[in-house]
Amino acid sequence: MTENTKAFDSWLRTRFVEINSELEKLYWQQDDKANVEGVGEHLKRQLEQEGNEHIRALLAEGNTDEGFDNAFDLLGNVGLYMAACRRHEITEPSRETSSPLVEASALAMHIGASIGVTPRFATAHLTTHNKAVDGLYKRFTDLEDEKIFVDYNTKGILAYKRAADALLKIQPLGISHPITADLLAVAKQALLDVIESNNALYNKLDTDRFFYCVRPYYKPYRVGKEVYRGANAGDFAGINVIDLLLGLCFANEPSYSQMLVDKFLYMMPEDQQILRESMRMTSIMDDFLAAEAERDSEWLQTNLKLFIQVCKLHGDTAIGHHNQLVSKYIAQPSQQMQQQHMDKVTASGPPLHVLLNSLEQLRDRRAAAKRDDIRTRFDDLTKLKQWIK
Ligand code: HEM
Repeated sequence: MTENTKAFDSWLRTRFVEINSELEKLYWQQDDKANVEGVGEHLKRQLEQEGNEHIRALLAEGNTDEGFDNAFDLLGNVGLYMAACRRHEITEPSRETSSPLVEASALAMHIGASIGVTPRFATAHLTTHNKAVDGLYKRFTDLEDEKIFVDYNTKGILAYKRAADALLKIQPLGISHPITADLLAVAKQALLDVIESNNALYNKLDTDRFFYCVRPYYKPYRVGKEVYRGANAGDFAGINVIDLLLGLCFANEPSYSQMLVDKFLYMMPEDQQILRESMRMTSIMDDFLAAEAERDSEWLQTNLKLFIQVCKLHGDTAIGHHNQLVSKYIAQPSQQMQQQHMDKVTASGPPLHVLLNSLEQLRDRRAAAKRDDIRTRFDDLTKLKQWIK
């Protein structure tokens, strides 16, 4: 880390958090909590100027080759600054054709392009790759609800990754291997951990605090000319590795592959690699279906039972995400929100009903629900369940 990088990191961990928290207090006091216009203008100016001074020094220094980790970390810091400017409407993508944060954009594009990720902050910067100093990791504000949100996002992501890792290890062993049962048991436990963590989040996170003070930092913003969609907890390979290896989703189905194509650059390069490989693998479900001749064997009975349980749990995590988290923290509060702010609700940009519809389809694919309009594994799973004695 260079001196300039250190100075910027320490500003982000202190002053940046103070200014954002102060602004959140002011917004929160209003009747219309979603309004940011004309509020705390001097604080907004301080945020923009102080951050920009650090960035100017870093840009002049150049993206010296300090290794991937440092470059990725610095990109995250620039991204947190740009996301905060967007949250306070110091920048606003629909108002501009190019980001007014010229230096920050240049630095972010230089780093992003050189390491193969989008030039904005991604979920990994706040969750799995967010170094704590003295017990405190990087955040936008000092609000307890932001900490709750990030803590449980991190827990959920890590648990999904554990499940994905276990399923990937089945690939070279095959479905009849005795140790495949151990790996399926690991995946089962990891998915139970996702459910437990999401339930805790659902019980602890305050709806209004999340909707008005946390979520706005995850909006799309412009870097240079391009608008980059917001970060969401799904920007890691594990969730899709599970979808594909279980066989619940198909990489050659247009809406699903569209989602994968869109998310590649929002993931860490190592995740991009894992996902690419998973897209080329046959699914465990197809391997079981092809083993019909051995349906009475002991190995098939043991491993298939576990496989079906893993599928059920993966579906349950998706049902919980959609019917609990998305419904309570996005869909319901959006309905109450003043119409003038409605176009700014989702992190990814599409109108809310379009987003909800695509999340609902994902939920039903993962849950292998019976649907006539999209392809799910309802029939195949029903068949496999009938093999169990
Ligand atoms: C995507 C909401 C927590 C996993 C999304 C999207 C929304 C959303 C609205 C769609 C993308 C977008 O708007 O840009 C929420 C809310 C949460 C929450 C309101 C909590 C308050 C979590 C957690 C996880 C998670 C803890 C677990 C790791 C995912 C995944 C996606 C996603 C995997 C990508 C789409 C998919 O593959 O299902 N979330 N989420 N979310 N979220 Fe969450």
